[in-house]
Amino acid sequence: MKTILVTGGAGFIGSCYVLMAVKNGFRVINLDKLTYSGNLENLAEIQNDSRHIFVRGDIGNYELVQHLCREYLPDYVVNFAAESHVDRSILDPEAFVRTNVLGTCTLLRAVKEWRDGLDSAGELYKNFRFLHVSTDEVFGALQPGDPAFTEKTAFAPNSPYSASKASSDHFVRAYYETYGFPCLITNSSNNYGPRQFPEKLIPLVTLNALKRKPLPVYGTGENIRDWLHVEDHCEAIHTVLLKGSVGETYCIGGSSERTNIEVVRAICAVLDELRPHADGKYEELITFVKDRLGHDFRYAIDCGKIKTQLGWEPKHTFEEGLAATVKWYLDNEAWTQNVQSGEYRRWLEKNYTGR
Ligand code: NAD
Ligand code: DAU
Repeated sequence: MKTILVTGGAGFIGSCYVLMAVKNGFRVINLDKLTYSGNLENLAEIQNDSRHIFVRGDIGNYELVQHLCREYLPDYVVNFAAESHVDRSILDPEAFVRTNVLGTCTLLRAVKEWRDGLDSAGELYKNFRFLHVSTDEVFGALQPGDPAFTEKTAFAPNSPYSASKASSDHFVRAYYETYGFPCLITNSSNNYGPRQFPEKLIPLVTLNALKRKPLPVYGTGENIRDWLHVEDHCEAIHTVLLKGSVGETYCIGGSSERTNIEVVRAICAVLDELRPHADGKYEELITFVKDRLGHDFRYAIDCGKIKTQLGWEPKHTFEEGLAATVKWYLDNEAWTQNVQSGEYRRWLEKNYTGR
C-alpha cells in the first residue's frame, strides 16, 4: 500500500482528496493545523478507517514533519495546506506569508532532508514525489478576449494571497532546479462543491439565501471565474502525482467561465426549485456592495497540457455540479450549522458590515 503525506487534508479540497485517496487504496497521513477552515467533520466517512492517520500540526514545524516522514515513510507528499481566502489576505497579509511562504519552505526542507537520508538506490528515494497545489491567481488577471492562462503565462500576482502562493510556487520550482528534488506543481481555477467553507462565494450566497439575508455581490458582478468541481480537481491532482513529469507545472480548469452575477442567479434559481420561499424569489436578495480591493477581473485556464499529455478531463458540467452542490448544503444542515460558529460570524461582521 502506497502512503501519501497530505497537508491541509481537513480543508475543502484536501478533504475531498483524502477521501478519494483512501477509497483508492492509499494510506494517508493527514497533517493539518485545523485553522478556522479545517474541519474534521469533512472526514467523518473515514474516521474509523485505519488507512487514515490524522495529525494536528503545522507544515512550518520542521521536527514534526521530519518525525512523520521517518515514522511513515511516505511515497508522496501533496501540499494543500494554506491560507486560502483573498479577502482575509487583504486584511492580514502576514498570516499568508507565514503559512503559504515560510510554511511551504520549511515543509520542503524537512521533507527533502529526510529523503536525502534514504538509500539513493532504493525505490522509495527514486520514486518519491512532492506535489504542490497552487492557484491560477498567480498569473494575475485577464480582460475579456485575452487568451486563457497556460503553464507558460508569466506570474503577475495581484493580491497578498496570490503573491504568497506565487512565492511558494517559486520555492517549489527552486527546490527542483537547485537540488533536483522531485516536485510537481498544479495551478487550478476556482473550485466549488461540498464542504467548502462558507466564506467563499458559492456557499456564502447559498447559506445567506436560506436565512433570507442579503446576497453580497462585489462591484458590478461582471468579474469572471472559471469554475471547476472539486472532485475533478482532485482527480487531476492524483493524475499529475502518478503520471506527471517531475519539475513540470500543470494548469487545471473547468472550462466553465461565468460572471459572478450569473453564478449568484444560478444559485437562486436552484433554491427557487428546491426550497421555494413564500416571501419571494431569492434573486430579490441580491445586493451590490463595495468592490474587493484590487479585484482581479477574469481568470480562465487552458488545460490543453493535462488533457493531451495525461488524459485528464473534467466530468462535471457547471450547471449539474452547482445544483448538486446547493442540494448538498441543504441536505447537510448539521455541517452548515457547525461551521457557522462564532469565528465565522466575526468574519462576516469584519468583511461585510458597512460595506
Ligand atoms: P481551505 O482553507 O478550505 O483549507 C486549507 C486547510 O489547510 C485547512 O484545513 C487548514 O486547517 C489547513 N492549514 C492552514 N494553515 C496550515 C498550516 N500552517 N499547517 C497545516 N495546515 C494548515 O482551502 P482550500 O480551498 O481547500 O484550498 C486548498 C489548497 O488549494 C490551497 O493551497 C489553495 O491555495 C489551493 N487552491 C484552492 C482553490 C479554491 O478554489 N479553493 C483553487 C486553486 C487552488
Ligand atoms: O482562482 C482560484 C482561487 O479561487 C483560489 O486560489 C482561492 O483559494 C479561492 O478562494 C478562489 O478565489 P476567489 O477570490 O476567486 O474566490 P471567492 O469565492 O472569494 O470569490 C469568487 C468571486 O466572487 C470573486 O470575483 C469575488 C466575488 N465575491 C466573493 C465573495 C466572498 C463576491 O462578489 N461576493 C462575496 O461575498
